[in-house]
This record gives sequence, structure tokens and C-alpha cells, in this order.
Amino acid sequence: MKTTIDQVAKHLGQEVTIGAWLANKRSSGKIAFLQLRDGTGFIQGVVVKAEVAEETFNLAKSITQETSLFVTGTVVEDTRSPFGYELQVKEIEVIHQAVDFPITPKEHGTEFLMDNRHLWLRSKKQHAIIKIRNEIIRATYQFFSENGYIKVDPPILTGSAAEGTTELFHTQYFEEEAYLSQSGQLYMEAAAMAFGKVFSFGPTFRAEKSKTRRHLIEFWMIEPEMAFMDHEESLQVQENYVSYLAQSVLTNCQLELKTLERDVTKLEKIKAPFPRITYDKAIDLLKEKGFDDIEWGEDFGSPHETAIAESFDQPVFITHYPADIKAFYMKPDPDRPEVVLCADLIAPEGYGEVIGGSQRIDDLELMKKRYEEHQLTSDAYKWYLELRQYGSVPHSGFGLGLERTVAWLSGVEHVRETIPFPRLLNRLYP
Ligand code: 4AD
Ligand code: MG
Repeated sequence: MKTTIDQVAKHLGQEVTIGAWLANKRSSGKIAFLQLRDGTGFIQGVVVKAEVAEETFNLAKSITQETSLFVTGTVVEDTRSPFGYELQVKEIEVIHQAVDFPITPKEHGTEFLMDNRHLWLRSKKQHAIIKIRNEIIRATYQFFSENGYIKVDPPILTGSAAEGTTELFHTQYFEEEAYLSQSGQLYMEAAAMAFGKVFSFGPTFRAEKSKTRRHLIEFWMIEPEMAFMDHEESLQVQENYVSYLAQSVLTNCQLELKTLERDVTKLEKIKAPFPRITYDKAIDLLKEKGFDDIEWGEDFGSPHETAIAESFDQPVFITHYPADIKAFYMKPDPDRPEVVLCADLIAPEGYGEVIGGSQRIDDLELMKKRYEEHQLTSDAYKWYLELRQYGSVPHSGFGLGLERTVAWLSGVEHVRETIPFPRLLNRLYP
């Protein structure tokens, strides 16, 4: 019977045929161990010389890496492997022979692997990371759907920038100029006024000249937006959502976490509520930690975020940043208008900011004032202003960066490994 590796548990003791590629191989005079992968998983095929036809054993010994095969054998339990099963091979049929696959089991440099990303994706580690990415996406849909949110898709081609105009990708839109979306937020605010609780999940683009382990040029963002919710209520959604993601990965990606040698005790600690610290307190903390130069009013860089995160073993919210270093749409604190009702969620272990969010300005006059300060008077933003004109309500939302979340939960160093085909500064291929 034809099956896939993820289904072999259902066929214990039976003979099955699996379409697979040869990931790796070891052999001696009497036995060959084939590491097989079919996309759904990895399994070891054992070929015993005494139990198969001579030509089958000779074939097993000579198959080259990444050759595609139909392998027939009996599923048996194997307590030594993390997967728990192996295949006692009876027959092997070569579908297509691969010659000189460039990524051998030895160590390769990052640039070489990135040039071969289309092939590197087949490796066990990359497979595990992308499976965890998939689980985070699945859990996202489940979390928001169970909590009464509907998914709304904002446009990718836009005329209105959400996060400042310096990092935009420009493109020609017939006679007009357009941009690739940096964030769907402005559209999600319109959607929240129509559907109450909404979320989006889509690609976003930033022409940032940053070459760090946290920055991609094209990354995917989950952006919930909630009508009638204030800043504090939004923080509760965020901590519940992030806890849910961590617990889903722990439950559903045990094999992948093992493959990545992730310290799961770190993930087990990710449980709402998360600690909160104001920007003011964060400045004090940084000064205590020896960052003597940092002044109130300055934005935090990666070293600052990492230093703050080190004081907590959970993700931490930094709240109430100065209005001047945050986006035009954030609502000022009524008690202290120089700061805004916002928070960045900083992940532990140096993974940095995974969420940026805020309560939004709901007052028409104040929003008009912000437009003037930010020179946003053009037609492109007229529609956004109108959301404050017709039944304006308190509302809040946030954006979670998928790749940074995948990097953090998987424990991989750099975001380039958390998206199938990363777009980085100086890298558009493959
Ligand atoms: O903090 P940001 O810029 O917030 C927004 O775009 C808001 N409009 C979201 C909202 O309220 N709806 O970005 C949100 C998150 C960051 O916390 C980070 O995780 C991720 O997006 N992010 C990046 N991830 C990878 N590469 C980049 N260049 C990123 N820039 C932001
Ligand atoms: Mg941010």
C-alpha cells in the first residue's frame, strides 16, 4: 500500500510503499541504512543483505544523495530513533537519479547555503523550521477564529503609507505612484469599524538598509485590530495570543523542536500574563545596566532591547513610549500627552521586538493636527480621517512579525532561515 512517512504509525507491521528522496546513507558489507525523506517526515530504511535480492542490496549501496525512489518495506517500531519507526526495506525502485547534489552532509558556509536555498530547504533543520512556521500560522487562524475575529485582507499595492515614508518600495501604478504595503493597519482600522474584531496575515515590505539577524526586506505580519478595545485590553489579547502560539508549538512540533535542539523549558515559561515596564522605567533600567548615553526621548536599538529582556524570563511589554519616536496614529496618554498608549513586546533570548501595537487616535481634531505635523494632507489619507468622522470608537491593534516569532520559538539565530525564500539586503535570488 502506498503511504507517506507521517502515516506509517497506522501501518505498523504492514508492507508499504513510500515515494521518497535519499537524504543520507551509511552502509557496510551486510547492511545499508537509508535516511529517507518525503516532505512529510524522515524515516530510516534498513536494507539487510541476507533478506533482499542481491541487486536490491547493490542498488541500496550505490544510491546517490537526493535520488528519488519508491521504497517498499515493512514498518517496524524503532525505539532508538526520535521518530519511533523504521522501514525494513524489501524493494527499491529508482525514479530519477540525482548526480552531485551540492549540499552534502558536511558543513557549508551560509552564503553557499543561501545561494542554494531552493535545495537547502530539503534539509532536516530547514524542514523543522518551516514546519514550526506552518504551525504558528495554523494556530494563528485557530486562535483568532475561536475568539470571534474574522480575517480581512488588506491590499498589497497602496497609496497610503502606515509606518513613515522613508522605507517604502515605490512602484508605478499606471499613471500614479504606488507603494508595496509596509503594514495593513490603516485598512484594518477601516475593517474593524465594519466587522468589530479582525485580523490580517500577509506579506509586508520595508526598504530598510538593515543587515541584522532580525531584519528582512519582505516579511509576513499578523495584524489584529479591535473596535471598542483600549490599550490594556489589547495587551491581554497579545499575551494570550503569544502564549497560545508557544503552547501550540510545544504540543504539535515536538519532533521539530528535538531536531532543532530547542531548549523547551524556555518555551514552557511563555504563559500569560507577561511583565510590563514603562519606557521611563526601561530608561532607568538601562542606565543601571551601564548604558550611560541613553537619554529620555531616544529610541531603543537591539542592544537596549536585549539588555531589558535579560531582566525577565518571559517576553516583556515596554509601554508608553514618547510620542515623538512613534507613529502618527498612536493615541496620547490622556494623563501625560508626551507619551502614547503603545507597547512593543520584546522576546527573551535576544530575539527582540516581536510585536508593535497601540491604541489608535479616535478623535477627529487630534488626528487632523497629527496630519499637519506629519504633512499627510494628501488625498491618500482622506479616507483614513473619515474613520474618525462617522461613529468613531476607541480601538486598538497590533502587528506580530511572523519570522521573528518563528526564529524565537524555534531557537534559530537568524530570520533568514525562518521564511522559505528570504529577501535580504543584496539578495533577491533564488
Ligand atoms: O512595529 P511595526 O513597524 O508595527 C507596525 O507595522 C504596525 N502598523 C502594526 C500594527 O499595529 N498593526 O512592525 C510590527 C512587527 C515588529 O514588531 C516586528 O516583529 C516585525 O513586525 N517587523 C519585522 N520583521 C522582520 N523584518 C523587518 N524588517 C521587520 N520590521 C518589522
Ligand atoms: Mg515597531
